[in-house]
Amino acid sequence: MSDTSDFLENEKPHEIYEKQEKYWASVASDVDGMLGGFEKLHSPDINDSKKFISLLKKNGFLSNFDHAIDCGSGIGRVTKHLLVPIFQKVDMIDVTESFIENSKKYLGLVESKIGQKFISGLQDFIPQENYYDLIWIQWVSGHLTDEDFVKFFQRCKSGIRPGGCIVLKENISSAQEKDFDTQDHSWTRPRALILELFKQAGLRVVSDRKQLHFPKGMYEVRMFALVPESGNDE
Ligand SMILES: C[S@@+](CC[C@H](N)C(=O)[O-])C[C@H]1O[C@@H](n2cnc3c(N)ncnc32)[C@H](O)[C@@H]1O
Repeated sequence: MSDTSDFLENEKPHEIYEKQEKYWASVASDVDGMLGGFEKLHSPDINDSKKFISLLKKNGFLSNFDHAIDCGSGIGRVTKHLLVPIFQKVDMIDVTESFIENSKKYLGLVESKIGQKFISGLQDFIPQENYYDLIWIQWVSGHLTDEDFVKFFQRCKSGIRPGGCIVLKENISSAQEKDFDTQDHSWTRPRALILELFKQAGLRVVSDRKQLHFPKGMYEVRMFALVPESGNDE
């Protein structure tokens, strides 16, 4: 058993969530803080996300542009640069109060396109049913336990309306088992585990792309588009 497993053996989910919250409350409300000190990832990240959304539109997995939600939004980096230009209204949800408070300043003029701002852990959040055209979840799912990941994605499934989808953009571990980061108390999961959790949540992957143009030596980052298992193919 690895050191990480030993370390985690006695930790209860609520203790891990408390430590995550404490960590994020100490992080600066700026783009560098959102990207763990890698501000230079911002442009290639947004560019590839835009391309992914274009692909979803082209393939008929994203047909309406009324409501989106940015999950684990932080100050609203993804909201401002990716979602606001495409959707009529964008909601935000994050567990860190200071990020949501400081988002007004960061968003500036586009604040008028924001719908609701929720301060909550995703493990407790219930998206409004049959409401969102796109639920975007980026660099936050590693903060959920496997059980809460599945339950959250199940609730997201109920939150999207016909013609919409869920996107997960996340780091991927090349190891067999998930990695645990003792600084921010998050897991990085291998692709096979993420696919298994989607299956448990009753979701089907309709598109899966690798983020390009990131520096070498970082985790691979992938974007997955998901629809309910029972949904029709376009
Ligand atoms: C790496 S930052 C990414 C922020 C944003 N998605 C982006 O790409 O700019 C992780 C974010 O997840 C939030 N977070 C951490 N644990 C969370 C949880 N359990 N529920 C909701 N948000 C959480 C943090 O407050 C932080 O804003």
